[in-house]
Amino acid sequence: MSSLELEKINAAKAALEYVQDGMILGLGSGTTAREFIKLLAERVKKEKLNIIGVPSSFDTRILSHKLGLSIAEADEVDQIDLAIDGADVATKTGLLKGGGGALTREKVVAYAAKKFICIVDSSKVKERLEGKVVVEVVPFAYNTVMKELYKFSKKVGYRVADEKIGPIITDNGNFLLDVEMFVKDPKRTEIELKNIPGVVESGIFTKFDKVIVGTKDESRIL
Ligand code: A5P
Repeated sequence: MSSLELEKINAAKAALEYVQDGMILGLGSGTTAREFIKLLAERVKKEKLNIIGVPSSFDTRILSHKLGLSIAEADEVDQIDLAIDGADVATKTGLLKGGGGALTREKVVAYAAKKFICIVDSSKVKERLEGKVVVEVVPFAYNTVMKELYKFSKKVGYRVADEKIGPIITDNGNFLLDVEMFVKDPKRTEIELKNIPGVVESGIFTKFDKVIVGTKDESRIL
């Protein structure tokens, strides 16, 4: 196992300690969230816990099903007690997410939760919020949104699928635009992007309670 894989597992283990019987959990997407979901399923089985998971992608939904977790859609629960998810870049004031294209449902789940804990390995921790800002757009608006995004960066492109011709289609039936940029003011940029007509959501996350960084032995709080 690589050291980063071990760090992901250790971050997931630390997050598992926040889980209590009876909770409704927001389940993130990506390789780190998958480690958490696997550990959660083991614990639920072992301790016979009553937990309901709200998956943030089809991928997480399928995994949760396979592992025997009880799941529900966001409109089937009254509240989400705690959400756990990974990130592509993590700083103290902002996260970049959406590398796996699940940003919109991830944000819906994380922002609706009473508490959102982000779990990352050390490679994700940066001083500056910089990298690929993912923007989910309704297909009709991709070109008009792209024009607006050039005001933020010269490097803007739409994400193309690997085993399908043309653009990637998200779990919500939309396109993804990738914008390479330095996000100086995460809260402001998150709002500015959201204000462009046709933008569904951006991968800038500014509402979170904690970032747990896995280390090779255990974990630390960012
Ligand atoms: C999915 O769209 C992403 O937001 C993931 O949560 C994020 O990319 C982290 O994924 P990994 O844990 O696989 O790095």
